[in-house]
Amino acid sequence: MTDDSSSTKPWGGRFTESTDAFVEAFTASIDFDQRLFSHDIKGSIAHARMLAHVNILTRAECDSIVGGLEEIHVDIERGEFVWSTELEDVHMNIEARLIERIGETGKKLHTGRSRNDQVATDLRLYLRDEIDRLCGALTRLQSALVDIADREADTIMPGFTHLQVAMPISFGDDMLAWEAMLERDHQRLQDCRKRVNIMPLGAAALAGTSFPIDREYTARLLGFDAPAGNSLDAVSDRDFVIEFCAAASVIMMHLSRFSEELILWSSAQFNFIELPDRFCTGSSIMPQKKNPDVPELVRGKSGRVVGHLLSLLMLMKSQPLAYNKDNQEDKEPLFDTVDTLKGSLRVFADMMPVIEVQREQMAAAAQQGFSTATDLADYLVRRGIAFRDAHEIVGRAVRLGIDTGKDLSEMTLDELQGFSAVIGEDVFDVLTLQGSMAARNHQGGTAPEQVRSAVAAARQRLQDRQ
Ligand code: ARG
Repeated sequence: MTDDSSSTKPWGGRFTESTDAFVEAFTASIDFDQRLFSHDIKGSIAHARMLAHVNILTRAECDSIVGGLEEIHVDIERGEFVWSTELEDVHMNIEARLIERIGETGKKLHTGRSRNDQVATDLRLYLRDEIDRLCGALTRLQSALVDIADREADTIMPGFTHLQVAMPISFGDDMLAWEAMLERDHQRLQDCRKRVNIMPLGAAALAGTSFPIDREYTARLLGFDAPAGNSLDAVSDRDFVIEFCAAASVIMMHLSRFSEELILWSSAQFNFIELPDRFCTGSSIMPQKKNPDVPELVRGKSGRVVGHLLSLLMLMKSQPLAYNKDNQEDKEPLFDTVDTLKGSLRVFADMMPVIEVQREQMAAAAQQGFSTATDLADYLVRRGIAFRDAHEIVGRAVRLGIDTGKDLSEMTLDELQGFSAVIGEDVFDVLTLQGSMAARNHQGGTAPEQVRSAVAAARQRLQDRQ
Protein backbone atom coordinates (compact mmCIF):
# COMPACT_ATOMS: atom_id res chain seq x y z
CA MET A 1 0.00 0.00 0.00
CA THR A 2 3.00 2.33 -0.36
CA ASP A 3 1.88 5.39 -2.26
CA ASP A 4 4.11 7.26 -4.68
CA SER A 5 5.14 10.23 -2.57
CA SER A 6 6.19 8.28 0.53
CA SER A 7 8.60 6.27 -1.58
CA THR A 8 10.44 9.45 -2.72
CA LYS A 9 11.78 9.83 0.83
CA PRO A 10 15.08 8.06 1.53
CA TRP A 11 13.35 6.62 4.59
CA GLY A 12 10.00 5.95 2.87
CA GLY A 13 10.16 2.16 2.93
CA ARG A 14 8.20 1.49 6.11
CA PHE A 15 5.59 4.22 5.53
CA THR A 16 2.16 3.63 4.04
CA GLU A 17 1.05 7.21 3.58
CA SER A 18 2.84 10.33 2.49
CA THR A 19 3.87 13.06 4.92
CA ASP A 20 1.29 15.70 5.67
CA ALA A 21 2.17 18.75 3.58
CA PHE A 22 2.41 21.08 6.56
CA VAL A 23 4.37 18.54 8.61
CA GLU A 24 6.81 18.27 5.73
CA ALA A 25 7.41 22.03 5.79
CA PHE A 26 7.39 22.08 9.59
CA THR A 27 10.05 19.40 9.99
CA ALA A 28 12.31 20.49 7.13
CA SER A 29 15.58 22.26 7.90
CA ILE A 30 16.78 22.80 4.35
CA ASP A 31 16.06 26.55 4.41
CA PHE A 32 18.79 27.05 6.99
CA ASP A 33 21.02 23.97 7.01
CA GLN A 34 21.97 24.35 3.32
CA ARG A 35 24.64 26.62 4.76
CA LEU A 36 26.46 23.41 5.77
CA PHE A 37 26.73 22.14 2.21
CA SER A 38 30.49 22.35 1.74
CA HIS A 39 31.16 20.74 5.12
CA ASP A 40 28.60 18.06 4.38
CA ILE A 41 30.30 17.27 1.08
CA LYS A 42 33.73 17.31 2.67
CA GLY A 43 32.53 14.86 5.34
CA SER A 44 30.94 12.59 2.71
CA ILE A 45 34.07 12.52 0.58
CA ALA A 46 36.17 11.52 3.59
CA HIS A 47 33.62 8.88 4.54
CA ALA A 48 33.66 7.41 1.00
CA ARG A 49 37.48 7.36 0.97
CA MET A 50 37.50 5.56 4.29
CA LEU A 51 34.95 3.01 2.99
CA ALA A 52 37.27 2.33 0.04
CA HIS A 53 40.28 2.15 2.34
CA VAL A 54 38.65 -0.71 4.29
CA ASN A 55 37.37 -2.33 1.06
CA ILE A 56 33.68 -1.71 1.68
CA LEU A 57 33.62 0.28 -1.55
CA THR A 58 35.70 -0.51 -4.61
CA ARG A 59 38.15 2.09 -5.83
CA ALA A 60 35.92 2.75 -8.85
CA GLU A 61 32.83 3.21 -6.69
CA CYS A 62 34.70 5.60 -4.43
CA ASP A 63 35.99 7.62 -7.41
CA SER A 64 32.52 7.87 -8.84
CA ILE A 65 31.05 9.06 -5.51
CA VAL A 66 33.83 11.59 -4.93
CA GLY A 67 33.55 12.89 -8.51
CA GLY A 68 29.77 13.23 -8.19
CA LEU A 69 30.04 15.07 -4.88
CA GLU A 70 32.63 17.45 -6.29
CA GLU A 71 30.35 18.29 -9.22
CA ILE A 72 27.45 18.89 -6.83
CA HIS A 73 29.70 21.26 -4.86
CA VAL A 74 30.35 23.25 -8.02
CA ASP A 75 26.62 23.33 -8.87
CA ILE A 76 25.74 24.65 -5.43
CA GLU A 77 28.43 27.32 -5.54
CA ARG A 78 27.15 28.45 -8.92
CA GLY A 79 23.61 28.67 -7.55
CA GLU A 80 22.47 25.94 -9.92
CA PHE A 81 21.33 23.49 -7.27
CA VAL A 82 17.60 23.42 -6.53
CA TRP A 83 16.97 22.63 -2.87
CA SER A 84 13.88 20.61 -2.14
CA THR A 85 11.82 20.81 1.04
CA GLU A 86 10.52 17.35 0.30
CA LEU A 87 14.06 16.09 0.84
CA GLU A 88 14.05 17.68 4.28
CA ASP A 89 17.64 18.68 4.90
CA VAL A 90 21.02 19.34 3.35
CA HIS A 91 22.16 15.73 3.83
CA MET A 92 19.28 14.12 1.95
CA ASN A 93 19.21 16.78 -0.74
CA ILE A 94 22.84 16.15 -1.59
CA GLU A 95 22.59 12.38 -1.33
CA ALA A 96 19.50 12.28 -3.56
CA ARG A 97 21.25 14.44 -6.16
CA LEU A 98 24.30 12.17 -6.02
CA ILE A 99 22.14 9.14 -6.76
CA GLU A 100 20.42 11.02 -9.58
CA ARG A 101 23.81 11.90 -11.01
CA ILE A 102 25.91 8.75 -10.67
CA GLY A 103 23.19 6.10 -10.31
CA GLU A 104 23.18 2.97 -8.12
CA THR A 105 26.68 3.51 -6.69
CA GLY A 106 25.44 6.69 -5.00
CA LYS A 107 23.19 4.56 -2.85
CA LYS A 108 26.26 3.01 -1.20
CA LEU A 109 27.58 6.26 0.30
CA HIS A 110 25.43 6.04 3.41
CA THR A 111 26.90 2.63 4.39
CA GLY A 112 28.04 2.61 8.03
CA ARG A 113 26.79 6.11 8.72
CA SER A 114 23.64 7.90 9.85
CA ARG A 115 22.41 11.44 9.50
CA ASN A 116 22.92 11.64 13.25
CA ASP A 117 26.70 11.36 13.14
CA GLN A 118 26.73 13.16 9.78
CA VAL A 119 25.04 16.33 11.04
CA ALA A 120 27.12 16.43 14.22
CA THR A 121 30.26 16.12 12.07
CA ASP A 122 29.13 18.82 9.64
CA LEU A 123 28.42 21.20 12.47
CA ARG A 124 31.82 20.65 14.03
CA LEU A 125 33.61 21.17 10.70
CA TYR A 126 31.60 24.34 10.13
CA LEU A 127 32.25 25.72 13.61
CA ARG A 128 35.95 24.93 13.45
CA ASP A 129 36.25 27.06 10.29
CA GLU A 130 34.20 29.87 11.79
CA ILE A 131 36.25 29.89 15.00
CA ASP A 132 39.38 30.31 12.90
CA ARG A 133 37.81 33.23 11.04
CA LEU A 134 36.57 34.84 14.24
CA CYS A 135 40.00 34.54 15.82
CA GLY A 136 41.37 36.41 12.80
CA ALA A 137 38.72 39.10 13.26
CA LEU A 138 39.59 39.42 16.96
CA THR A 139 43.27 39.76 16.12
CA ARG A 140 42.49 42.50 13.61
CA LEU A 141 40.54 44.51 16.19
CA GLN A 142 43.19 43.91 18.85
CA SER A 143 45.91 45.22 16.51
CA ALA A 144 43.86 48.33 15.77
CA LEU A 145 43.54 49.03 19.49
CA VAL A 146 47.24 48.49 20.10
CA ASP A 147 48.02 50.99 17.32
CA ILE A 148 45.75 53.59 18.94
CA ALA A 149 47.33 52.90 22.34
CA ASP A 150 50.76 53.53 20.84
CA ARG A 151 49.68 56.79 19.21
CA GLU A 152 47.78 58.01 22.31
CA ALA A 153 50.08 56.87 25.13
CA ASP A 154 50.56 60.50 26.23
CA THR A 155 46.92 61.53 25.79
CA ILE A 156 45.36 62.30 29.15
CA MET A 157 41.77 61.43 29.94
CA PRO A 158 39.87 61.18 33.16
CA GLY A 159 39.66 57.62 34.46
CA PHE A 160 36.35 56.84 36.11
CA THR A 161 34.99 54.68 38.87
CA HIS A 162 31.22 54.83 39.43
CA LEU A 163 31.32 57.05 36.32
CA GLN A 164 32.77 59.77 38.59
CA VAL A 165 36.17 61.25 37.76
CA ALA A 166 38.78 59.20 39.62
CA MET A 167 42.31 59.86 38.33
CA PRO A 168 43.98 61.06 35.16
CA ILE A 169 44.84 58.10 32.94
CA SER A 170 46.42 57.57 29.56
CA PHE A 171 43.87 57.14 26.77
CA GLY A 172 46.25 54.52 25.40
CA ASP A 173 45.87 52.62 28.67
CA ASP A 174 42.11 52.62 28.22
CA MET A 175 42.49 51.14 24.71
CA LEU A 176 44.76 48.44 26.11
CA ALA A 177 42.10 47.51 28.68
CA TRP A 178 39.75 46.56 25.82
CA GLU A 179 42.58 44.76 24.07
CA ALA A 180 43.22 42.70 27.21
CA MET A 181 39.58 41.57 27.28
CA LEU A 182 39.70 40.59 23.62
CA GLU A 183 42.89 38.64 24.26
CA ARG A 184 41.09 36.49 26.84
CA ASP A 185 38.22 36.14 24.36
CA HIS A 186 40.68 34.81 21.80
CA GLN A 187 42.02 32.32 24.34
CA ARG A 188 38.48 31.19 25.14
CA LEU A 189 37.77 30.51 21.46
CA GLN A 190 41.03 28.63 21.06
CA ASP A 191 40.20 26.52 24.07
CA CYS A 192 36.68 25.85 22.80
CA ARG A 193 38.15 24.79 19.43
CA LYS A 194 39.93 21.85 21.09
CA ARG A 195 36.61 20.36 22.13
CA VAL A 196 34.98 21.21 18.80
CA ASN A 197 37.67 19.37 16.87
CA ILE A 198 36.56 15.84 17.81
CA MET A 199 34.90 13.62 15.18
CA PRO A 200 31.43 12.09 15.70
CA LEU A 201 31.51 10.21 12.35
CA GLY A 202 31.43 6.46 12.94
CA ALA A 203 29.00 6.77 15.85
CA ALA A 204 26.35 6.18 13.16
CA ALA A 205 22.80 6.40 14.54
CA LEU A 206 23.87 6.04 18.17
CA ALA A 207 25.87 2.89 18.86
CA GLY A 208 28.37 2.54 16.03
CA THR A 209 28.10 0.29 13.01
CA SER A 210 28.59 -3.39 12.22
CA PHE A 211 30.96 -2.49 9.35
CA PRO A 212 34.74 -2.60 9.95
CA ILE A 213 35.23 1.17 9.63
CA ASP A 214 38.51 2.98 10.32
CA ARG A 215 37.63 6.09 12.27
CA GLU A 216 41.23 7.21 12.78
CA TYR A 217 41.60 7.29 9.00
CA THR A 218 38.50 9.48 8.51
CA ALA A 219 39.54 11.75 11.39
CA ARG A 220 42.92 12.29 9.76
CA LEU A 221 41.35 13.11 6.39
CA LEU A 222 39.10 15.71 8.02
CA GLY A 223 41.77 17.22 10.28
CA PHE A 224 40.04 16.17 13.49
CA ASP A 225 42.23 15.58 16.53
CA ALA A 226 40.49 12.27 17.32
CA PRO A 227 37.25 10.34 16.86
CA ALA A 228 34.74 10.79 19.67
CA GLY A 229 35.10 8.21 22.42
CA ASN A 230 31.45 7.49 23.12
CA SER A 231 28.95 7.13 20.29
CA LEU A 232 25.79 7.92 22.25
CA ASP A 233 27.39 11.13 23.45
CA ALA A 234 28.84 11.96 20.02
CA VAL A 235 25.49 12.03 18.20
CA SER A 236 23.47 13.75 20.92
CA ASP A 237 25.79 16.23 22.53
CA ARG A 238 25.75 19.87 21.49
CA ASP A 239 27.74 21.25 24.39
CA PHE A 240 30.43 22.39 21.95
CA VAL A 241 27.84 24.71 20.39
CA ILE A 242 26.76 25.94 23.82
CA GLU A 243 30.35 26.51 24.82
CA PHE A 244 31.03 28.48 21.67
CA CYS A 245 27.91 30.60 22.22
CA ALA A 246 29.01 31.23 25.80
CA ALA A 247 32.39 32.46 24.56
CA ALA A 248 30.58 34.54 21.91
CA SER A 249 28.31 36.02 24.58
CA VAL A 250 31.32 37.12 26.60
CA ILE A 251 32.79 38.78 23.50
CA MET A 252 29.52 40.58 22.80
CA MET A 253 29.28 41.59 26.46
CA HIS A 254 32.74 43.14 26.14
CA LEU A 255 31.79 44.88 22.91
CA SER A 256 28.61 46.19 24.53
CA ARG A 257 30.63 47.75 27.34
CA PHE A 258 33.06 49.20 24.80
CA SER A 259 30.07 50.51 22.81
CA GLU A 260 28.72 52.18 25.91
CA GLU A 261 31.97 54.09 26.36
CA LEU A 262 31.99 55.20 22.74
CA ILE A 263 28.38 56.35 23.01
CA LEU A 264 29.12 58.37 26.15
CA TRP A 265 32.36 59.75 24.78
CA SER A 266 30.79 60.92 21.54
CA SER A 267 27.97 62.77 23.34
CA ALA A 268 28.10 66.57 23.52
CA GLN A 269 28.42 66.29 27.30
CA PHE A 270 31.68 64.33 27.10
CA ASN A 271 32.93 65.27 23.65
CA PHE A 272 36.01 63.03 24.01
CA ILE A 273 35.78 61.54 20.54
CA GLU A 274 34.16 62.23 17.20
CA LEU A 275 32.84 59.26 15.27
CA PRO A 276 33.29 59.61 11.51
CA ASP A 277 30.06 60.51 9.68
CA ARG A 278 30.16 57.25 7.76
CA PHE A 279 29.60 55.31 10.97
CA CYS A 280 26.65 57.43 12.11
CA THR A 281 23.18 58.39 10.93
CA GLY A 282 20.97 61.44 11.43
CA SER A 283 17.49 62.00 12.75
CA SER A 284 14.49 62.33 10.47
CA ILE A 285 13.12 65.17 12.59
CA MET A 286 16.01 66.81 14.47
CA PRO A 287 18.43 68.30 11.94
CA GLN A 288 21.28 68.74 14.43
CA LYS A 289 21.54 65.07 15.34
CA LYS A 290 24.34 62.66 14.58
CA ASN A 291 23.66 59.35 16.27
CA PRO A 292 26.26 56.72 17.21
CA ASP A 293 24.28 53.93 15.55
CA VAL A 294 27.12 51.47 15.15
CA PRO A 295 28.02 51.14 18.83
CA GLU A 296 24.34 51.30 19.77
CA LEU A 297 23.54 48.43 17.44
CA VAL A 298 26.43 46.33 18.69
CA ARG A 299 25.26 46.98 22.25
CA GLY A 300 21.78 45.85 21.19
CA LYS A 301 23.01 42.79 19.35
CA SER A 302 24.76 41.56 22.48
CA GLY A 303 21.29 40.80 23.88
CA ARG A 304 20.45 38.65 20.92
CA VAL A 305 23.63 36.58 21.19
CA VAL A 306 23.09 35.96 24.91
CA GLY A 307 19.51 35.01 23.98
CA HIS A 308 20.85 32.36 21.59
CA LEU A 309 23.02 30.93 24.37
CA LEU A 310 19.96 30.60 26.59
CA SER A 311 17.93 29.02 23.76
CA LEU A 312 20.61 26.39 23.30
CA LEU A 313 20.88 25.62 26.98
CA MET A 314 17.11 25.18 27.13
CA LEU A 315 17.19 23.11 23.94
CA MET A 316 19.66 20.66 25.42
CA LYS A 317 18.26 20.56 28.95
CA SER A 318 16.39 17.32 29.77
CA GLN A 319 17.02 15.63 26.42
CA PRO A 320 17.39 11.89 26.91
CA LEU A 321 20.11 10.01 25.03
CA ALA A 322 20.78 9.81 22.20
CA TYR A 323 19.90 11.94 19.13
CA ASN A 324 16.55 13.75 19.22
CA LYS A 325 15.05 15.91 16.53
CA ASP A 326 15.16 18.77 19.05
CA ASN A 327 18.76 19.15 18.00
CA GLN A 328 17.78 20.39 14.57
CA GLU A 329 16.95 23.60 16.45
CA ASP A 330 20.63 24.14 17.27
CA LYS A 331 21.50 25.59 13.89
CA GLU A 332 19.67 28.89 13.62
CA PRO A 333 20.91 30.23 16.98
CA LEU A 334 24.44 29.09 16.16
CA PHE A 335 24.46 30.58 12.65
CA ASP A 336 23.03 33.86 13.86
CA THR A 337 25.58 34.00 16.68
CA VAL A 338 28.42 33.52 14.19
CA ASP A 339 27.01 36.16 11.80
CA THR A 340 26.33 38.70 14.54
CA LEU A 341 29.73 38.28 16.11
CA LYS A 342 31.52 38.48 12.79
CA GLY A 343 29.67 41.65 11.81
CA SER A 344 30.24 43.30 15.18
CA LEU A 345 33.97 42.57 15.20
CA ARG A 346 34.33 43.76 11.66
CA VAL A 347 32.52 47.05 12.18
CA PHE A 348 34.55 47.77 15.30
CA ALA A 349 37.83 47.02 13.56
CA ASP A 350 36.81 49.33 10.68
CA MET A 351 35.63 52.14 12.95
CA MET A 352 38.21 52.32 15.74
CA PRO A 353 41.22 53.43 13.65
CA VAL A 354 39.26 56.42 12.33
CA ILE A 355 37.67 57.80 15.50
CA GLU A 356 38.85 61.35 16.11
CA VAL A 357 40.36 61.86 19.57
CA GLN A 358 39.53 65.27 21.14
CA ARG A 359 42.67 65.54 23.23
CA GLU A 360 42.04 69.01 24.71
CA GLN A 361 38.52 68.09 25.79
CA MET A 362 39.74 64.92 27.45
CA ALA A 363 42.48 66.76 29.34
CA ALA A 364 40.05 69.51 30.40
CA ALA A 365 37.67 66.89 31.74
CA ALA A 366 40.52 65.22 33.63
CA GLN A 367 41.15 68.57 35.30
CA GLN A 368 37.65 68.45 36.80
CA GLY A 369 36.56 66.48 39.82
CA PHE A 370 39.78 66.75 41.88
CA SER A 371 41.36 63.94 39.91
CA THR A 372 44.75 64.47 41.56
CA ALA A 373 43.46 64.24 45.15
CA THR A 374 45.04 60.80 45.58
CA ASP A 375 48.35 62.25 44.40
CA LEU A 376 48.18 64.86 47.15
CA ALA A 377 47.47 62.15 49.72
CA ASP A 378 50.43 60.08 48.42
CA TYR A 379 52.60 63.24 48.65
CA LEU A 380 51.67 63.66 52.32
CA VAL A 381 52.48 60.00 52.97
CA ARG A 382 55.92 60.53 51.48
CA ARG A 383 56.29 63.38 53.99
CA GLY A 384 55.69 60.99 56.89
CA ILE A 385 51.92 61.24 57.38
CA ALA A 386 49.94 57.99 57.72
CA PHE A 387 47.70 57.29 54.73
CA ARG A 388 44.42 57.42 56.70
CA ASP A 389 45.37 60.85 58.10
CA ALA A 390 46.51 62.02 54.66
CA HIS A 391 43.14 60.91 53.24
CA GLU A 392 41.35 62.99 55.87
CA ILE A 393 43.51 66.08 55.22
CA VAL A 394 42.99 65.95 51.46
CA GLY A 395 39.26 65.44 52.02
CA ARG A 396 39.18 68.77 53.81
CA ALA A 397 41.13 70.44 51.01
CA VAL A 398 38.65 69.07 48.48
CA ARG A 399 35.80 70.45 50.60
CA LEU A 400 37.38 73.93 50.29
CA GLY A 401 37.79 73.38 46.57
CA ILE A 402 34.12 72.55 46.20
CA ASP A 403 33.12 75.65 48.17
CA THR A 404 35.44 78.00 46.28
CA GLY A 405 35.19 76.37 42.86
CA LYS A 406 38.96 75.79 42.69
CA ASP A 407 40.90 72.69 41.74
CA LEU A 408 43.68 71.61 44.15
CA SER A 409 46.29 72.77 41.65
CA GLU A 410 44.67 76.24 41.62
CA MET A 411 45.02 76.77 45.38
CA THR A 412 47.87 78.88 46.73
CA LEU A 413 50.69 77.32 48.72
CA ASP A 414 49.37 79.21 51.77
CA GLU A 415 45.93 77.71 51.35
CA LEU A 416 47.35 74.21 51.02
CA GLN A 417 49.68 74.65 53.99
CA GLY A 418 46.60 75.53 56.02
CA PHE A 419 45.71 71.83 55.76
CA SER A 420 49.19 70.49 56.55
CA ALA A 421 52.46 72.19 57.37
CA VAL A 422 54.49 69.48 55.60
CA ILE A 423 53.30 70.74 52.21
CA GLY A 424 56.05 72.50 50.22
CA GLU A 425 56.35 74.28 46.86
CA ASP A 426 57.09 70.95 45.14
CA VAL A 427 53.48 69.86 45.76
CA PHE A 428 52.48 71.49 42.47
CA ASP A 429 54.54 68.91 40.55
CA VAL A 430 52.29 66.12 41.76
CA LEU A 431 49.09 68.10 41.27
CA THR A 432 49.49 68.35 37.48
CA LEU A 433 47.76 65.81 35.28
CA GLN A 434 51.01 64.77 33.60
CA GLY A 435 52.77 64.37 36.94
CA SER A 436 49.93 62.28 38.31
CA MET A 437 49.82 60.01 35.27
CA ALA A 438 53.59 59.62 34.97
CA ALA A 439 53.85 58.73 38.67
CA ARG A 440 51.99 55.45 38.19
CA ASN A 441 55.07 53.98 36.67
CA HIS A 442 55.12 50.28 37.38
CA GLN A 443 54.06 47.29 35.30
CA GLY A 444 50.32 47.65 34.66
CA GLY A 445 50.31 51.34 35.66
CA THR A 446 48.92 54.14 33.49
CA ALA A 447 52.25 56.01 32.98
CA PRO A 448 52.93 56.55 29.25
CA GLU A 449 56.21 54.68 29.62
CA GLN A 450 54.29 51.62 30.88
CA VAL A 451 51.69 51.97 28.15
CA ARG A 452 54.47 51.90 25.57
CA SER A 453 56.03 48.78 26.99
CA ALA A 454 52.58 47.12 27.18
CA VAL A 455 52.10 48.07 23.52
CA ALA A 456 55.38 46.39 22.60
CA ALA A 457 54.45 43.24 24.52
CA ALA A 458 50.99 43.10 22.91
CA ARG A 459 52.48 43.54 19.43
CA GLN A 460 54.86 40.67 20.04
CA ARG A 461 52.04 38.47 21.35
CA LEU A 462 49.81 39.24 18.34
CA GLN A 463 52.66 38.63 15.94
CA ASP A 464 53.61 35.29 17.52
CA ARG A 465 50.04 34.17 17.02
CA GLN A 466 50.20 34.42 13.21
N1 ARG B 1 18.27 17.69 9.91
C1 ARG B 1 18.63 16.91 11.02
C2 ARG B 1 19.24 17.79 12.11
O1 ARG B 1 19.54 18.89 11.82
C3 ARG B 1 19.60 15.86 10.62
C4 ARG B 1 19.61 14.64 11.48
C5 ARG B 1 18.32 13.94 11.33
N2 ARG B 1 18.34 12.67 11.96
C6 ARG B 1 17.20 11.98 12.17
N3 ARG B 1 17.32 10.85 12.73
N4 ARG B 1 16.05 12.44 11.79
O2 ARG B 1 19.42 17.41 13.24
